[in-house]
Parts: sequence; C-alpha cells; structure tokens
Amino acid sequence: MNEQINQNDISHVVEADKAHVWHHLVQHAKFDTVDPNIIVEGKGMRVWNQAGREFVDAVSGGVWTVNVGYGRESIANAVRDQLMKMNYFAGSAGSIPGALFAEKLIEKMPGMSRVYYSNSGSEANEKCFKIVRQIAHNKYGGKKHKILYRERDYHGTTIATLSAGGQDERKGQYGPFTPGFVEVPHCLEYRSQWGEVDDYGIRAANAIEEVILREGPDTVGALCLEPVTAGGGVITPPEGYWERVQEICKKYDILLHIDEVVCGMGRTGTWFGYQHYGIEPDMVTMAKGVASGYAAISCTVTTEAVFQMFKADPSDPMSYFRDISTFGGCTAGPAAALENMRILEDENLLENTTSMGDYLIEKLEELKAKHPIIGDVRGKGLFCGAELVKDRDTREPVEESVSQAIVGACMANDGVIIGVTNRSLKGFNNTLCLSPALICTKSDLDQIAESIDTAITQVAAG
Ligand SMILES: Cc1ncc(COP(=O)(O)O)c(C=O)c1O
Repeated sequence: MNEQINQNDISHVVEADKAHVWHHLVQHAKFDTVDPNIIVEGKGMRVWNQAGREFVDAVSGGVWTVNVGYGRESIANAVRDQLMKMNYFAGSAGSIPGALFAEKLIEKMPGMSRVYYSNSGSEANEKCFKIVRQIAHNKYGGKKHKILYRERDYHGTTIATLSAGGQDERKGQYGPFTPGFVEVPHCLEYRSQWGEVDDYGIRAANAIEEVILREGPDTVGALCLEPVTAGGGVITPPEGYWERVQEICKKYDILLHIDEVVCGMGRTGTWFGYQHYGIEPDMVTMAKGVASGYAAISCTVTTEAVFQMFKADPSDPMSYFRDISTFGGCTAGPAAALENMRILEDENLLENTTSMGDYLIEKLEELKAKHPIIGDVRGKGLFCGAELVKDRDTREPVEESVSQAIVGACMANDGVIIGVTNRSLKGFNNTLCLSPALICTKSDLDQIAESIDTAITQVAAG
C-alpha cells in the first residue's frame, strides 16, 4: 500500500463500523472480540485492510465481481467524466452511455436484441419473472405463469428471487414464498440422483420434462437456469444436458431465462457462459462483472420476439412493460460497463481466462492427487471448485466447519482469500470456490494453490 493510513482515523472507522454497519452474511457476535476487516485499498488482484495487511483475492471481491481487477483508473475517469456531464435521468429517457453500452452488448450476444437496465442481479431476474407473468396474462389468460428453477441454483436475495432459489439454507426462515415457482432436479453428476447412468446429462434434462408434464405444459411459462451453477457448488453441466434442455423448452413453448449474473462478462472464457453450449436463450440476466463493481449495474436482455410482445398493441394501455427501476437511470453503470468491456477486449482477457482457467484446474487436480479430502474438481474458465469429502468411496461430504477451517487457514497463513459454499445447502456446504480476477497470472494461481495445499494439510492434521 502506498499511503500510510492515519491510525487515529482508521480506529475511528473501525469503531463506526462496529457500532453502525450491518454486514451481509455475517453473524456479528464475533465483533465483540475481533475487529471487522475494513478493506481500504485494492490494486490488480490484491487488497489491503486497515492494518495494512495484504491479501491475494481469489474471489474477485468476495462474490465474483471485480473481473478486471482493482484500481482501474480508466474506469474511474470514465465514470467521473460521465457524472460531471450527466449523472441521472429516469429510464423513460435514454442516455449516451446507456445506448452505446446496449449496442456493444448486443454485438456480443447474437440472437438477442433489447437491454433493460437495473442495479442488481436480483432485480434483473425479477424483471424476467415480471415479463413471464405479463406474457402469461396477455397471451394465455394468466395460465402459463409458472417459473421453473433448479435445485442448487441461486437467483437472488429478494422474496421472489428466493422463491426461485434452489438452496434450502438460503431460503430458510424467509418464507412464505411467492406462489408459482417450481423446482426441477440439479444436474451434478458427482451427486447423481439416479445412481450410475451412462447418459446422466440427458437423464437430468429429462427430469425437467417430467416436472413440466406433472405441472401441465400449459401452466409453465419459463425455465430459469444458471449456465454453470455458481454458489450452489460450481456445477458444470454434464454432456448432452443443454441440447436436451433447449429441445424441451422449444417443445413446450417455454421461455428460457439464463442467469449470467456470475458467468457473464468473460468469467468462463466466453462473453457469456451459455455461449459454450450453443444455447439460444429468450432472456439473459447479468450483473456482477458487467462493470466489475466500479458502479452498480445489471441488465435484463431479451430477444426481439419477447420485446415485441410488449410493443405490439399500443391500443391496450396495459400491454407495455410497466416496470420502474429508479437507479436503472444512473449513467455511472453503463459508463463503467463500456470501459470495462474495452479493457476485456484490449487486454485479451477472455483468452487469459481460458488459459488460466485450464491452469487452475490442473493445479486443483494436483491437489486432489495429493489430498484424499478433495473428492471432485470442477470448473469452467476462472470459476472453479473443489468438493471436499470425508471419504472418496462413500462421497460423504465434510462438515461445513472443515471447509470453513480451510478458508480460514488460507486467510490466516498467507492472506489468500478463497470462497466456499456457505449456509446454502444443508449438508453440502463443502465446495471450495475460486474465481480470481480475469487478469490473474500463473504465479498468482501458484500462490493460491500453495496456500490451499498448506491449509488442507494443517486442517487434516487437526
Ligand atoms: C447466479 C446469481 N444470480 C443472481 C444473484 C443475485 O445478485 P445480486 O446479489 O446482485 O442481487 C447472484 C448473487 O450472488 C448469483 O450468484
């Protein structure tokens, strides 16, 4: 860190934080005895806390967001220039960066056509749910309104998005939920629900069709899926899965909504995760990496066919999309997103993601060969996971406390911040998650892998 932090000022910050800030996903009792980590500066892959301690961030800001890394002056400048010229006007009007980013984004998404701006992944997904419900009312007398979601997937934190959430512990204590959301089985072959099958991908996709037939195809409006399940355990789709899912959606006239909140904007080595699998979505949502956390922005992107359903009948005063997002009109988001996209292109970060992602998998496989606690290694691009088990043969998952201890040891020993499925899936909070910034190098990944190696050895030794 270049600047010395004034110790009086920073002690005040820590006290103010302890007294007044309610942190996300944190049980605060521990702050009776320890200080919260205040992250005061970042550069590239590294961040520094209030004590000047350096950390290597293997999770891009904790929740897979800072795709282009910290300290990007050109993004800060683009946002500043835009804010001085025009900071905000409601989304009923356009803005220069809003129009230009939409154009650039659609260039990367053949088959897609329209961009609706909002501020978080949850909000972007809610827009899709409202689109599905409104189409159901306008076209199908309200009947085709059900939204299918998948066990283990996550789509956000609001009550409606939690209603579409496939993680029991994330949902626990927040019901009752919104009606009309129906779960389909997960597609994690390592935890096959049908024993050993040759065509697991097809079997898991057919399980979606079984739900559709049970519910009645004329009641199902959309299927909402992550291309690679992120927080639910880094689940890469099995062979044949997506082709069959697409076929099923077409067969029953069901809109396919792909949640790219994590995978979007290069995380898996293509602009969007779905582009690995030849999927033709009707709606795509994105947030985290769109502006790498330099500004809040999310996008709900649709095909022209979906958009046209909200335009076709100007004589009906209720038939257009009557949604409001106050801060969808902030220009900082698209201004940052434009510069973020330029950096991804000019620095060839998609290529880097593919090659570094392969290297990261190699490193995790080496760790698996050495440590029996690693039962399975999975990933796509720079989103990788290692599932921890008590016993490789039975695949019994380790306790959450064990995976947490490994995360804690990486942090304590080496200042390496890694992630883990936490309080998401009862009994299955056992997958370590790695999602470093797309600028990472082999030496960064070596450092991260070495830290995990030491932490596992230490935790295994008790
Ligand atoms: C796949 C997925 N969708 C949606 C969300 C919700 O995004 P946000 O926290 O910005 O509302 C998340 C957040 O982690 C996510 O992982």
